[in-house]
Amino acid sequence: QPVVAVLVAAGSGSRLGAAVPKALVELAGVPLVRLSAEALVAGGVQQVVVTIPGGMDAPFEQALAGLRAPLRIVAGGSTRQESVRLGLKALNASDDAVVLVHDAARALVPPALVASVVEAIADGAAAAVPVLPVTDSIRQLTASGSVVVDRSALRAVQTPQAARLGALRDAHEHARVRGLEVTDDAAVCELVGLDVTLVPGHSDAMKVTTPADLVVATAILEERRR
Ligand code: CTP
Ligand code: MG
Repeated sequence: QPVVAVLVAAGSGSRLGAAVPKALVELAGVPLVRLSAEALVAGGVQQVVVTIPGGMDAPFEQALAGLRAPLRIVAGGSTRQESVRLGLKALNASDDAVVLVHDAARALVPPALVASVVEAIADGAAAAVPVLPVTDSIRQLTASGSVVVDRSALRAVQTPQAARLGALRDAHEHARVRGLEVTDDAAVCELVGLDVTLVPGHSDAMKVTTPADLVVATAILEERRR
């Protein structure tokens, strides 16, 4: 069974505020996009399409040189959803291939988590996403103020998210034609009625969003290398 991936790295990283696109920011000397691509390959991915910001081919090619799987770099879009759609187009695999969509910003995703979403699809899931319990107390805003929400019924969603390539392409095309914008690929799948299976996520698959996240990710990586 072929296993392929779209690695979305076309964002600028405005909340991180670095001088380069976020995916090129380094953790202990290695760019986030390289760490992410290597984790995907270690987890069983056989082909990777990376979406990047326009005009940034040279630095991304350098960051990804020598990856141990076939790799293509394509320009992303103005939203994450559009970048995923463009990345899916550029993959060269059959409709029944397992496809993963992964945020380059989740650079420390354990290879075992990558393998677990692939396994969920192989076991019959239409779509699979890693999730973690929510740790903060949550309040929902209402017209008159706010109400407490039962945290035990909530899950935070990570990547990689998995589906069959043909089904995910169709789902993204459906979303594009109808002008529907959602925040992740599981939500895109739900637009066309696919069931989403949850698998246990991992704290190391945290997304680097702010400068404080970069400090945490660096500590995780250094601890791993000790
Ligand atoms: N992404 C993308 N194309 C976009 C926007 C985001 O490929 N048009 C990717 C980012 O590169 C990132 C992932 O989607 O790996 C998750 O997005 P996010 O963490 O929001 O990254 P940025 O959009 O770059 O950051 P910010 O929102 O702070 O600008
Ligand atoms: Mg963003």
